[in-house]
Amino acid sequence: MLAMNYRGPQRVRIDEKPEPKILHPQDAIVRVTRSCICGSDLHLYNGNVPDTRVGMTFGHEFIGEVTEIGSEVQKLKVGDMVIVPFNIACGKCHFCKQGLFGNCHESNSQATAVGGIFGYSHTAGGYDGGQAEYVRVPYADVGPTVIPPGMDPDDAVLLTDVVPTGYQAAEMGGIQKGDTVVIFGAGPIGIMAARCSWLFGAGRVIVIDKLEYRLEFVRNYANCEAYNYEEMDDPVVFVKKTTDWMGADVCIDAVGAEASGNLMQTITGRKLLLQAGSATAVHWAVNSLKKGGILSIVGVYGPTDNLVPIGNVVNKGITIRANQASVKRLLPKLIDHVQNGVINPKPLITHRVPLEDVADAYHIFSEKLDNCIKPVLIPPSAR
Ligand SMILES: NC(=O)c1ccc[n+]([C@@H]2O[C@H](COP(=O)([O-])OP(=O)(O)OC[C@H]3O[C@@H](n4cnc5c(N)ncnc54)[C@H](O)[C@@H]3O)[C@@H](O)[C@H]2O)c1
Ligand SMILES: [Zn+2]
Ligand SMILES: [Zn+2]
Repeated sequence: MLAMNYRGPQRVRIDEKPEPKILHPQDAIVRVTRSCICGSDLHLYNGNVPDTRVGMTFGHEFIGEVTEIGSEVQKLKVGDMVIVPFNIACGKCHFCKQGLFGNCHESNSQATAVGGIFGYSHTAGGYDGGQAEYVRVPYADVGPTVIPPGMDPDDAVLLTDVVPTGYQAAEMGGIQKGDTVVIFGAGPIGIMAARCSWLFGAGRVIVIDKLEYRLEFVRNYANCEAYNYEEMDDPVVFVKKTTDWMGADVCIDAVGAEASGNLMQTITGRKLLLQAGSATAVHWAVNSLKKGGILSIVGVYGPTDNLVPIGNVVNKGITIRANQASVKRLLPKLIDHVQNGVINPKPLITHRVPLEDVADAYHIFSEKLDNCIKPVLIPPSAR
């Protein structure tokens, strides 16, 4: 089958790989009909995630058709079209039972922080992902959810990660009625977080990025304010000034390890890898918050130390809430929102690329070329 193949930092290609097989009675095999490239894949692509092995297939955002099931799978049948959450979760462990499907203790039993994630390095379990024609999906009765009749596949594929993560970013912010929410990052996740902040009662939503085309998009899509940090002397002073010098009630980091905007962070975090990615957005967010404010981090960072202003977090009494999104917990509600038109994810998809051209898609998305917001890869069988 055709599959994306990681060859080292900034080098990916399409290759022939053996089709996956059922390895466990609870597995299913899914024929992929759409898979996306995510900002999280860029951390892998740029070599920022430990134990990203050459030969791995990325891709944690995919939908497709069930083509084979293991002997213990009961809820799925061959032919079902499914949304597959990006987290791999057993559904039975201490953490899954609490709805913490991003922290499953079984699907990545060598680690104590993160659970298994499709196509996300051996740090996240070493599972091959969905930027391929077929994927093996473990615990098939737990994660995969049948796509409701009539749902557009482009909406469905964004329910595997972008919609739940944006929603959870807003949810973790504990937004109270009338709150000012400042979101760093206008990628798909920041855009969705902005849209969802209104659902929690925000009074003002501000998005900060440097890419004009994304600022323009989010202004229209999420009906919010959007500003370019390259036009500010200091983004923190900007936020304070626009909030009567109080600061934001809630800040959301939707940037993560590839942040730009601070030379020292860029050199230590992205060039020399002395810390696990540059923590510029965390800095700006912590320092832009009101005392007692809440920082919600969905931006992904490597697991090792980062130069975050932790002293300010303590002294300002900031609550930090962070996690990988718990897609499964949120899916029923979010499917309703999509079906009722409360959230309309599809417009985020700007590029539809044949799977064979996966290397070009990574280049375009990573370099933010051609006004790219979200690329989707389409395998030959789905075209
Ligand atoms: N926690 C989760 O479950 C989860 C799920 C999906 C994605 N993520 C993470 O969310 C983050 C965003 O993902 P995405 O797909 O939107 O990525 P993306 O790369 O498309 O977008 C990131 C945006 O941040 C902007 N940016 C860079 N430095 C900035 C700064 N200092 N301040 C403000 N904006 C800055 C970039 O210009 C870009 O538009 C990534 O770190 C990704 O790994 C987390
Ligand atoms: Zn993702
Ligand atoms: Zn579990």
